[in-house]
Amino acid sequence: NKNMVLDKWKRPLQDLRISVIDRCNFRCTYCMPKEIFGKDFAFLPPEQLLTFDEIERLVKIFAELGVKKIRLTGGEPLLRKDLPQLIEKINQIKGIEDIALTTNAVHLVKQASALKEAGLQRINVSLDALDPETFKAINDRGVSPDWVIKGIDAAIEAGLEVKVNMVVKKGMNDHEVLPMAAYFKERGITLRFIEFMDVGQSNGWDFSKVITKKQMVEQLSEEFELEPVDQDYFGEVAKRYRYKGTNTEVGFITSVSESFCSSCTRARIAADGKFFTCLFATEGFDLKELVRSDKTDEEVDQAIRSIWGNRTDRYSDERTEETVKNRKKIEMSYIGG
Ligand code: GTP
Ligand code: 5AD
Ligand code: SF4
Ligand code: SF4
Repeated sequence: NKNMVLDKWKRPLQDLRISVIDRCNFRCTYCMPKEIFGKDFAFLPPEQLLTFDEIERLVKIFAELGVKKIRLTGGEPLLRKDLPQLIEKINQIKGIEDIALTTNAVHLVKQASALKEAGLQRINVSLDALDPETFKAINDRGVSPDWVIKGIDAAIEAGLEVKVNMVVKKGMNDHEVLPMAAYFKERGITLRFIEFMDVGQSNGWDFSKVITKKQMVEQLSEEFELEPVDQDYFGEVAKRYRYKGTNTEVGFITSVSESFCSSCTRARIAADGKFFTCLFATEGFDLKELVRSDKTDEEVDQAIRSIWGNRTDRYSDERTEETVKNRKKIEMSYIGG
């Protein structure tokens, strides 16, 4: 692609994560703690959300710049009204090869088949525990893991490819690593363990609450034999393994212990159209203002090109006690992970 754009460290812009809403039906303690995301929290009003037409226009422009992969996130993306209509639009855009969604799965029972029909290929489901009491305490809305499992079943039934994400935090759910592995191995579903990250300002992160990939592999090795699987493409986020003698994979997302910034090809658009070149950014560029002005596609293209061209982000490579504390980072539920 002759239009492709490289940043200052020669990383191409290939993936775009779009948050379609900043609200969620869960209040996961490590993401949207109730004390902060309570009754009085100022979520974005509807007119501040990019419309589907605005998102479609932006995706076309990003596709011209080399983006091949779109992931829809939230908050909880299934709370955005008529989401299948957006997927249908994105699915028709030349150059987009992969459309995925990250969800807590509760609404999949109702929506999975419509999403599939609209052209969605795959979903990543967040599930942090199988033990009901542990999971209820984490989502802080008393939601039983059964609802998530029902959502996963509905997605598989509808023909969507499913992976499961588990954020592992010390003292919260590290005792669920083995049960989760056993359950999803048995079902032949890929499970990815995510190191707890210092996203945002409100999740009380510190190094001592991180369970590293190394520690998880040690735990898993008590029960299972793992063998490494080669990466699929440049910039793949998860380190992948296979349970020996099966085709079932397990992965690790090691933003803390083995950061992967040198191959980071991801840009993000928050629900209000702010454009970010890193999950740990402090400021975004207002694309909504651009698309609501009389700027041409060419001008929007130039603006994005220039921002990516000047990109130097490598937050996780540079993470220290200082950066964790003294940086005013945006929230996960707003930027979409
Ligand atoms: P696949 O395309 O299925 O591999 O999806 P993904 O892993 O890129 O997306 P998903 O939404 O499932 O994210 C899983 C975890 O990886 C979440 O905790 C994300 O916040 C984290 N993650 C994704 N991209 C990045 C990144 O660029 N930097 C960091 N630090 N974490 C990321
Ligand atoms: N660290 C790691 N992962 C997180 N997620 C949300 N907050 C954090 C955090 N602090 C996960 C969600 C979801 C994905 C998009 O990001 O559980 O699976
Ligand atoms: Fe919602 Fe996902 Fe955040 Fe939990 S981790 S509060 S499900 S956005
Ligand atoms: Fe990319 Fe920033 Fe994550 Fe590094 S910390 S991988 S630059 S999003």
